[in-house]
Amino acid sequence: MAEQLLALQDEVNHLRDSLQEDTGIGDMVGASQPFIPACDMLRKVADSHVTVLLLGETGVGKEMFARALHSISPLAKSPFIAINCTTIPEELIESELFGVEKGAYTGAHQSRPGRFERAHSGTLFLDEVGELSMNAQAKLLRVLQEGEIERVGDTRTRKVDVRVVAATNVDLQEAVPAGRFRSDLYYRLNIYPVIIPPLRERKDDIELLVTRFLEKYTARHGKRVNGITERALQALKDYNWPGNIRELENMIERGVIIVAVGDAIDLKDLFPCLNINKDAPALHPSLNREEGDVESLVGQVIDQSTSLEEMETLLLETAVKKAKGNLSQAARILGITRPQLAYRLKKRENGSLLE
Ligand SMILES: Nc1ncnc2c1ncn2[C@@H]1O[C@H](COP(=O)(O)OP(=O)(O)O)[C@@H](O)[C@H]1O
Ligand SMILES: [Mg+2]
Repeated sequence: MAEQLLALQDEVNHLRDSLQEDTGIGDMVGASQPFIPACDMLRKVADSHVTVLLLGETGVGKEMFARALHSISPLAKSPFIAINCTTIPEELIESELFGVEKGAYTGAHQSRPGRFERAHSGTLFLDEVGELSMNAQAKLLRVLQEGEIERVGDTRTRKVDVRVVAATNVDLQEAVPAGRFRSDLYYRLNIYPVIIPPLRERKDDIELLVTRFLEKYTARHGKRVNGITERALQALKDYNWPGNIRELENMIERGVIIVAVGDAIDLKDLFPCLNINKDAPALHPSLNREEGDVESLVGQVIDQSTSLEEMETLLLETAVKKAKGNLSQAARILGITRPQLAYRLKKRENGSLLE
């Protein structure tokens, strides 16, 4: 018992040390060379009201940066409102952004404010702004220039005082000459661009991130886990992370669920579909391996730079198909439990693993 307590104390101290090195803002973790300038850029612009454009691949933390910026700005106590421009159908985007007056169209039974109004005196985060239609782009430009909105079906204009943070993973500089993005809106948004580097360029952050996610998911799943093995950590550092931090976070959560209580997360917990359960029938001859071969298999996944999510989706689907939809049998084929399989299938349905 005393020994366990001491080990726990050690872990807490270690965690505290690693957090002190961390230069991230708010909940953001990171201390690598490419990450620091992005945080510095954010700190410098926090006090002003300037529009910020966050640029980076999917899963690098654009939304997290936007929230962090809001939290260190003088607007921190005012609302932070986010809107993802890809998830709202074209015909609804205008009413979502600017609101609706009662009777504006059939079904508009009540007046309601849009996101600009709800973000008044705070921050509005326009995620995936590169996906807005040309029509919506024109309306957005007007608000940014005039500082006022018109609800759909209203003739009145309303003043809104909003700090806009936009994000995109498409190259707007290319979208402008291609005619997909208005150049005037591009210049209006691109006053203060902040580039968030992909995870493969900031591998020094992987260990800090893994520590953070282990803490988060052992707490969430109420499970005691003894960290991660050296070789598993190395495999994470060798991978090229097309899905960036989101993919790493999902993988650690999955590892926490799969690992036996009290064990350290190892390769087999991170890459469960490289089936190493010797008693289970193999899905494919190349997967019918002894444990010693796992590292070389991991190497193959990395070389092909296939996304692990893609690979796992394929394996889950194949197992379910092979078991003719019987989840217990599919789980046995994969060498995991039925609840573990059900959890992962559900997560896919909800889109959180594939976002
Ligand atoms: N620096 C970071 N520290 C800790 N977690 C992070 C960091 N950056 C991103 N994340 C996590 O990774 C996931 C994806 O981040 P998100 O901001 O949604 O990315 P994006 O908007 O660029 O697709 C989220 O769950 C977020 O909490
Ligand atoms: Mg996002």
